[in-house]
Amino acid sequence: MSLNVLGVASSMRNVSYSTKILQDALDSAKQHGAETRLLSLKDTKLPLYSPEGISSPELDKVTDDVKWADAYILASPDYHGSMSGTMKNFLDYFWTEFAGKTFGYVCASHEKGLTVMDQMRTAVRQCYGWSMPYGVSVNSDLDFDSNGNPSEQVKSRIKTLGRDIAAYGKVISKQFKDDVTGNDTDTFAARYR
Ligand SMILES: Cc1cc2nc3c(=O)[nH]c(=O)nc-3n(C[C@H](O)[C@H](O)[C@H](O)COP(=O)(O)O)c2cc1C
Repeated sequence: MSLNVLGVASSMRNVSYSTKILQDALDSAKQHGAETRLLSLKDTKLPLYSPEGISSPELDKVTDDVKWADAYILASPDYHGSMSGTMKNFLDYFWTEFAGKTFGYVCASHEKGLTVMDQMRTAVRQCYGWSMPYGVSVNSDLDFDSNGNPSEQVKSRIKTLGRDIAAYGKVISKQFKDDVTGNDTDTFAARYR
């Protein structure tokens, strides 16, 4: 069984640290057998979410990517200790689609990005997604050389993240799908039958 991993980039910058490490994490997941896609919310601009219904070609594309994915890596800059508005707007569109799926996190921050990643985790938990227990944060030019290449330490962390999302994503995806198609009522997956 191959695992589909969607990377979601939410920086509006053309040269973005969070998007760069997201791409590296996807490359690592691919090396560990996953299929990968990168969704850049800078290039595919979602309208502001409204519960009263929205239709747009961009939303169709994003919905297709979200449904395709078994696991996600969410990438955000640190904006005032929070995720970017772009990421929050993306998350607002989906909930049942996230259930039983595994999430990894990367962040560009000057302050380790812990509050940013925790806020993304909170949103994902509300939708019954499974979050990896750690994330990777990078601190702009401290962690990158003048050519934009990450330090060896960051490279190593990102490789681990890509490996772990491929490995743990597979386990959780299989169990969730088995539980949805099975008869056991003593599982949270039963509500998605
Ligand atoms: C509106 C705004 C708010 C920011 N707030 C914070 C902050 O609270 N803490 C922090 O460490 N960095 C903050 N930053 C800096 C960005 O997190 C940093 O530049 C990061 O590298 C941007 O990510 P990107 O390279 O992926 O675009 C802020 C930047 C902007 C534009």
